Amino acid sequence: MIETPARYVIDASSRPAFELWARLHHDRARSHSVVLAPERAYEIDAISLAVLSEIDGAKSVGEIAADLSARYGAPREVVSRDVINLLQGLADKRLLRDGPSPFSAPSPSPRAKSYAPFAGGPTGLLAELTHRCPLQCPYCSNPIDLERANVELTAREWGDAFRRAAEIGALQLHLSGGEPTVRKDLEEILAFAVDAGLYTNLITSGVTLTRERLEGLAKIGLDHVQLSIQDVEPENADRIARYEGGFEKKRQVAQWTGELGMGLTINAPMHRQNIAHLPQIIDFAVQSGAQRIEIAHIQYYAWALKNRAALIPTRDVFLGTVGIVEDAKQRLKGVLNFDFVIHDHYASRPKACTGGWGRSIVAVTPSGKALPCHAAQTIPGLVFDDVRERDLADIWLNGAAFNAFRGTDWMREPCRSCERREIDFGGCRCQAMAAIGDPQATDPACHLSPAHEAFARLGESEAEAPAPPFIYRRMSAEAAKTAEPV
Ligand code: SF4
Ligand code: FES
Repeated sequence: MIETPARYVIDASSRPAFELWARLHHDRARSHSVVLAPERAYEIDAISLAVLSEIDGAKSVGEIAADLSARYGAPREVVSRDVINLLQGLADKRLLRDGPSPFSAPSPSPRAKSYAPFAGGPTGLLAELTHRCPLQCPYCSNPIDLERANVELTAREWGDAFRRAAEIGALQLHLSGGEPTVRKDLEEILAFAVDAGLYTNLITSGVTLTRERLEGLAKIGLDHVQLSIQDVEPENADRIARYEGGFEKKRQVAQWTGELGMGLTINAPMHRQNIAHLPQIIDFAVQSGAQRIEIAHIQYYAWALKNRAALIPTRDVFLGTVGIVEDAKQRLKGVLNFDFVIHDHYASRPKACTGGWGRSIVAVTPSGKALPCHAAQTIPGLVFDDVRERDLADIWLNGAAFNAFRGTDWMREPCRSCERREIDFGGCRCQAMAAIGDPQATDPACHLSPAHEAFARLGESEAEAPAPPFIYRRMSAEAAKTAEPV
């Protein structure tokens, strides 16, 4: 039995404060206030803002409610109940702590106060700082043709992209790769992101990090670490990543994030070669002190498509994971938050992939190509603009690739007349391309797609056959040299 931390239950005597990885932010592009948190920006109204502006780890909930009751002339019991409900919701998301934080947060960016309103911009920027990576995961989501180190944007060029993204509404920045920590100038890049006022999330395998470097990044203002794991059985984890000692290193990195007061998400891609360990993977996230876990069944495009037969689970095994996650969510309420991405081959409805094409996310490749989805290069015929040559706002609003599948005009039947067309936006374009060869087709994960039955059968038949060996994601020998652990 692992020891599970207690849920933080708010009452009148609680003295809540934001954890280091959550903060109030005024979103000037959209003229409202938000709580910035890992992978999320929670919009808040004026009353919630009044409450959250008071929490400092010193004032009690009872004192805050009394102040607000006097200020607004509202009955104290009603105010007190509303304050507790609001704070309990945030505590259950693991965004609050009791008492003042022992860690000092870097000061907020003054630059973010100068942005003007901008309608309809992205909320997030995925910055693929490099495609270099010391791991060789068989489900790598980077493109088949990796970009080389000598074409990567400089730190200053990334800084320009961050500032422009923030000006048009981006709140969240995901520093990704490849492995972003192989960039020796990561600190300089991060400083530009903090200066732009973005909430920063480092998506890392952890194997090249040292404690000193992580501490340095925390001091610059890194908000959150998303640590990917392959398994919790060390030999199997290292076999999947083809990196000896990788799991042990990840365990250390998880521990350091807690010691440094940083936010932590454990990211566990799920497939037939680690799925039996899902309960232990959840336990590992709890033991690591993570606030979130992402359990994502693999989606099959780019490199993962080459390994589908080696990775895909049977429908029954997949359904088993649904039950495990549902139970764990109940058991770990207020301790661990779950993002669970179900298996598309066994779904009946598709996901609104990337939140809808050209609606919320812009991805930028190491060489500066702006993409509406990180896998958009798997779709032939799309033309991608370079952030060094065209203003990001213009790319976002008018770029050909961003408008190719934006909204609903591009849809054919059955999506065109479906009542869910503005909910899931027809699902995933990259999956329609990978599975059917037609990016305008309805995502075959949808039960209304003519390809749905065959898509589900394909999953079952591959999953029931013995798994073939992995085709590992190898980099060129030259690129691998600069992706070695530091
Ligand atoms: Fe979504 Fe299209 Fe399926 Fe309707 S038909 S549920 S819009 S994918
Ligand atoms: Fe590209 Fe879904 S991965 S739209």
